[in-house]
Formats: sequence, structure tokens, C-alpha cells
Amino acid sequence: MIPDKELERIRNDFPILSRGINGKPVIYFDNACMSLRPKQVMQAMNQYYEEYPACAGRSIHKLGRAVTERVAEARKTMAKFLGAKVEEIVFTRNTTEAINLVSHSLDFKRGDAVVTSDREHNSNLLPWQFLSKKAGVEHRVVYSDDNMEFDLERFEEAVGKGVKLVSLFHTSNLDGYTLPAREIIKISHEHGSLVMLDGAQSASHKQVDVKKLDVDFFALSGHKMLGPSGTGVLYGRYELLEKLEPFMLGGDTVQSSTYDSHVLLKPPEKFEAGLQNYAGSMGLAEAARYIEKVGKDKIEKHENELNRFISERLLQIKGTSIIGPKQVELRGGVVSFNIEGLNHHDVAIMLDESNIMVRSGQHCVHSWFNAHNIPGCVRASLYLYNTKEEAEKFLDKVAEIAKLG
Ligand SMILES: Cc1ncc(COP(=O)(O)O)c(C=O)c1O
Repeated sequence: MIPDKELERIRNDFPILSRGINGKPVIYFDNACMSLRPKQVMQAMNQYYEEYPACAGRSIHKLGRAVTERVAEARKTMAKFLGAKVEEIVFTRNTTEAINLVSHSLDFKRGDAVVTSDREHNSNLLPWQFLSKKAGVEHRVVYSDDNMEFDLERFEEAVGKGVKLVSLFHTSNLDGYTLPAREIIKISHEHGSLVMLDGAQSASHKQVDVKKLDVDFFALSGHKMLGPSGTGVLYGRYELLEKLEPFMLGGDTVQSSTYDSHVLLKPPEKFEAGLQNYAGSMGLAEAARYIEKVGKDKIEKHENELNRFISERLLQIKGTSIIGPKQVELRGGVVSFNIEGLNHHDVAIMLDESNIMVRSGQHCVHSWFNAHNIPGCVRASLYLYNTKEEAEKFLDKVAEIAKLG
């Protein structure tokens, strides 16, 4: 666990944790949906609006040059965060846009196949369903084993001939499970398939080095990693980015144009059409620096130890069941659960009455819930600022609620 003194310092950086609501502290366990933001991130964004509120790349005056420099710095920070080269970092609005960039820009042909898993977020499912309908691309789903772990044997069967892309969650927002990414990528490459990881839930909670993973594309969202909403990154191997045709065109993507032609800029600029979210990129980079300062391994360990404490005690409460692998060490910082006889939304509302914030429903993984005939669940998802005292309060409240079931 993060030592108490450090945890206190961290918590002081998040205004809502000190302020609370209606005089009561907030227990924020909805981090898989969106994390809180530290004041350093807000300051970095304010600094843009206060000190150099201008346009990057276009204007050569002092303010324009200052923004251009800060955006370049932000890109460098995100490249370091992921172990990538600077020119391999494309700023997007979020993970969804990053995945759609690839689904629209790779040269899919009729008869190509895409492989996903049985518990993808809609953002890594709908783009492939669309492509399947529109362009005749085959969409293959790999089903998890009985313990909700990735089934490498089934995967090897699915990743045969014709698979252009394997596109999988890295860490699941349903249950916190992280895939054996390296093996998956190795097998995929042996079969000549590219791999994209949806890193919305991983980059914020653990070490991710895209070069060590040897992954071809990697997507993340700023708002799940202490950064501003409306920010994200697509990492792409440079040789691949060079070949991709951007799916959005316009200002800032071209070197020059005539009435009937244009010459595109090189990656990443050719994918960043229109005026960008400069304050957002700066806030995102500040969030990455914040995470690195605390330490990704420390954060991962902290969340999982808290999860162990919660999961073990939760299962002692009559009527509770947890979704996902039995071993808590496979579920990162996520506890998705149900209480027999109680609706998941009712449980979330009762927790909210004590300012304990969780998410309830199908968490944008409708396909998995529908396939298993489960209406939904309550999800508590942890982050670096959560404490054991908060976990105890949460468990006491769940125990009280469970008596109603
Ligand atoms: C695993 C996963 N993929 C993709 C997304 C979509 O992220 P965004 O809405 O930021 O694009 C989420 C968001 O919850 C997610 O958890």
C-alpha cells in the first residue's frame, strides 16, 4: 500500500476529497468510469488560458510559439509515458476516437477478419460490427474460459488466415482482468496479424511499454488517468502510421493544397485535423507526470491490495457474488459484484446516500451481460487516492444494504 503520509499528500491534491459533499466526505470508487483530477492538472490547463491562450503550429508570434513548444513537450511526455517515439503519439479526444481512427484508416478489404474478445467495451466492438456490415470484414469473437481468463487455445484457433487485426481490451472495465498481452501479440504476429490494445483501463494503472509489448496500436483516454476529459492518445508504430490514410481531413493536416489536390503532413500531424485541445494536451501530460512521480508499480500494488481487502470481506457478506476471475490478483483494482435479491442500481443509490460513489449497470459491455443473461452489476473501481478506511466504510454500508436482500 502507499504509505499513509504519502497517501495524505496525494489526497490533498484532489479538491473534492477535502471538500466533500453536504459536509460529509466523498468516497470515490468510480475510477474505471472517470478518475478525479489533481490540482496540478487544472493548473497546467489554466496556465494555457492565462499565459499563452493562442494557436499552436500556425501563428509565429510569441504566444503562438509558446503554445507550439508546450504541445511538443506534452507529446514528448506522452511518448515517454508509453515508451514510444514522439512522432508515434497522435492526440485524440479519447480511446473511442483512437480506435475509430484505426478502424476507418486501415485498408480493410472484403474477406479480411478482425478478432476481439467476448467482453469488449462498446468502443472496441461497434466499430468492428460497423465494418463487418459495411465492408464485409469478418468479426471473430474469442470467448473467455470458465474462470473469465483469456483462452489462448481458442485464440490460436481464431487468429488463423485472413486476420488483419486483433483488437482487444488490455485491462477489462468489466472486472479489472488484464490479458496476457505479450503472448497474444507474439502469436498474432506469427500469424501476420496486427494488434491493437484498448488501453483505456491499463495505462492509468500499470506499467505499459508499447515497444516491450511490441504492440502495433495502443489507445488511451486522459479522463481515466487523472487527466482532462476530451483527451486521449493513439500510439501507432511509425511505419504503420505512415501508411494509414487519415479518416478526418482539414486544417493542420496538410503541407499545401491546390484546388484539386493536397499534400499531407507526416504523422502524427496528418491525423490531427482542425484546431486542437491545447489545454487538454497540457493537462494530460501533467497527469502522466503525476502518475510517474507516484510510480506506476506502486499504484498497481496499492489498488490490488485494497481490492484484496475488499473482495475477501465482501464475499463474507451473505448473498454477494463477484464477477471475474476468482483470484483477486487477476482483477487489478476492480470489484464488480451483485447482491442476491437487490437491483444493482438500487444498491448504487443506497451507497450514494452515504457519498460512496460506484457505478451500476452494464458498463458499456452490454454484449457480455446480454450473453450471460445478467441484468447488470455494481462496480467499485479503485485508484491511487483510495484508502483502507474508505474500503471499511464501503464494506459496512454494503453489509447493511445486503440485509435488505
Ligand atoms: C475498456 C474501455 N475501452 C474503451 C472505453 C471508452 O473510453 P472513452 O469513452 O474515453 O473513449 C472505456 C471507457 O469506459 C473502457 O473502459
